[in-house]
Amino acid sequence: GGKGCVILYLYTAGIRTAGKRIFITYKRQESSMEIQIWRDLLDPYDLAVRELTTKFEHLRYEYKSRGLYCPIEQVTGRVKTISSILDKMQKKQIEMAEIEERMEDIAGIRIICQFVEDIPKVVNMIRSRRDMTVKHEKDYVTHAKTSGYRSYHVIVNYGVELMSGPKTIQAEIQIRTMGMNFWSTIEHSLQYKYKQNIPDHLREKLLKSADAIVVLDSEMSSVRDEIMDAQNSMQH
Ligand code: GTP
Ligand code: MG
Repeated sequence: GGKGCVILYLYTAGIRTAGKRIFITYKRQESSMEIQIWRDLLDPYDLAVRELTTKFEHLRYEYKSRGLYCPIEQVTGRVKTISSILDKMQKKQIEMAEIEERMEDIAGIRIICQFVEDIPKVVNMIRSRRDMTVKHEKDYVTHAKTSGYRSYHVIVNYGVELMSGPKTIQAEIQIRTMGMNFWSTIEHSLQYKYKQNIPDHLREKLLKSADAIVVLDSEMSSVRDEIMDAQNSMQH
């Protein structure tokens, strides 16, 4: 109908104007049209996050229901907020029309493992799946970032089926231990508090803590067999 045509027109215009105009109108907290543009962009990602979360949780369910140890301890997912998309567009000089190609983490899945050894198992599960293809991987587990951040990142292409038909979108899957997650959650809060400029004395403490997490993870690995024995005997 007529309304649909108007929205479609503005959506195209919005894409062409790129970055800035959308930014300004959004900041003025404008019309439902602007909201519709964002909704059209983000809805497929919302579906992807919900599907992927369900699929990984289901894997966990399968392991558990067979009384097996599961390399996946917990799964969370989120769609990047509009304000954080806008921040990243500014920071990385990404135009509105390039968002879907260049912003790999609009759909974010986080898989938490108990042990470091579980991480490659989860990565292999992802590599062998037929419903997603790996675009690239970043191993911050063996090569920690200078901040001390550790995690294994897999960027995948994932297909969703929408009202308008099929669409392939990118999703960032972060795989990390509970220890790594503890560290990055705290560090993230500090980044937020200090607007990315964490004071030196806290940076030092964070680096020390990151080292302590490496030790903790490997200590936990060394008692891993005993924990698994205990879990198995609980089930029998
Ligand atoms: P962004 O960091 O997302 O802008 O993109 P990038 O291309 O640099 O990718 P990278 O692999 O460095 O980071 C992707 C994601 O990993 C981030 O969005 C964070 O969720 C997480 N991450 C990366 N570095 C750090 C870090 O130093 N601390 C914390 N807490 N998280 C990090
Ligand atoms: Mg980064």
